[in-house]
Amino acid sequence: MLLVASLPDDDLRRQHDPLMSPIVWDLGHIGHFEEVWLVENVESGGSGSEGLRGIYNPFENPRAVRDQLPLPSLSQCWDYLSGVRRVVLDGVVQLDLNSNAPLLKDGFVFRMVLQHEYQHTETILQTLQLMQNSPYRPPRQLVAPPASGDAPPADAMVWFPGGQVEHGTNDRSTAYDNERPKHAVDVAPFWIDVHPTTNAAYLSFVNEGGYGQPEHWSSPGWAWKESEALQAPKYWSRSEEGWSERFMDKIIKLDPTRPVCHVGYWEAEAFAHWAGKRLPTELEWEVAASWDPEGGKKRIYPWGDATPTALHANLDTVLFETAPIGSYPAGVSALGCWGMLGDVWEWTSTDFSGYPGYETFPYPEYSEVFFGDEYKVLRGGSWASRVGAVRNTFRNWDYPIRRQIFSGIRCVRDE
Ligand code: AVJ
Ligand code: FE
Repeated sequence: MLLVASLPDDDLRRQHDPLMSPIVWDLGHIGHFEEVWLVENVESGGSGSEGLRGIYNPFENPRAVRDQLPLPSLSQCWDYLSGVRRVVLDGVVQLDLNSNAPLLKDGFVFRMVLQHEYQHTETILQTLQLMQNSPYRPPRQLVAPPASGDAPPADAMVWFPGGQVEHGTNDRSTAYDNERPKHAVDVAPFWIDVHPTTNAAYLSFVNEGGYGQPEHWSSPGWAWKESEALQAPKYWSRSEEGWSERFMDKIIKLDPTRPVCHVGYWEAEAFAHWAGKRLPTELEWEVAASWDPEGGKKRIYPWGDATPTALHANLDTVLFETAPIGSYPAGVSALGCWGMLGDVWEWTSTDFSGYPGYETFPYPEYSEVFFGDEYKVLRGGSWASRVGAVRNTFRNWDYPIRRQIFSGIRCVRDE
């Protein structure tokens, strides 16, 4: 509500881009999801499906037509949201929180509802970033910590010697069904970038003609790039003084030290090829973020199991923009990778599908209906992701052509 309080109703109900919902739809949908799960399903054990009714059912009402729905005003929406929250809070005190019912056990359904809200908050931030004509002015208050003198150079890579690791998790309190079950896998050795790909590196790709060299692009990637006439990441612009990058209402000279953001999968893949590298599989990404070779243990976050703070990673919409690489020495993984959580989601080469032994829980419309070769997995969260919605095993997914998401790159190479 603080994010959107400054916006006139007009801007809240408008379709800013066919890719996105009107902001007030996301808000109402957050409340409706909470109502379905924490008022209707919480005691009955949950319906087999998301069960969202009416205008807030995402499948019946695709994003591009959501501005034609009878949407509420912000104050009507707020009344609805706070009404739901009141019923939920009244109900919580009656619930047996030590219950072994799968929805209630270890607070799963509450974290599921919170994560849903967090994910739609990030979606709203994508919409706010898309508003070009009357740019959104974020309530900025904080700046990134100073870049650490200890950070390895931007082009450094680290070696993973290969071996048997664990992929996924068996956690049932926070993790989604698609993160389970934990399973042992053999990983071949690989090099992985210490930092996400910087604007400087991506600018070299642009300047050296990468967008005009089909040999670096897959054929669907090249066809898409041609038809959209792309020449640079979304929100980059060029003037006589060189390239700039826009964060909401702030346009700054392209900062060579920040991670490149707002690239689609096809661009990420082409960049990696140009650099003589490739995109990681999601398994390789997870190993680099989570594997602690001492004792062969997995960490929940790159630095360990401690909940993220503002010194670990650029998360939680604290900055409203990316931070220079090397700003978070407290966030380094056991393998030595910096910035794996926060700043930008990182594209992986893996299609979104279920792990061996996958079981839908608690509804198929979160994960299962999106399994297949249409979506690529992204890992690590962005500056717009809330702390409760990111961890080493969390899997995001999107179409390879998407670039309004806060998406960047980290490459690997075999030898
Ligand atoms: C996991 C981010 C791909 O936004 O489509 C929100 C999250 N699922 N409501 C999405 C989600 C249902 C989902 N992503
Ligand atoms: Fe949703």
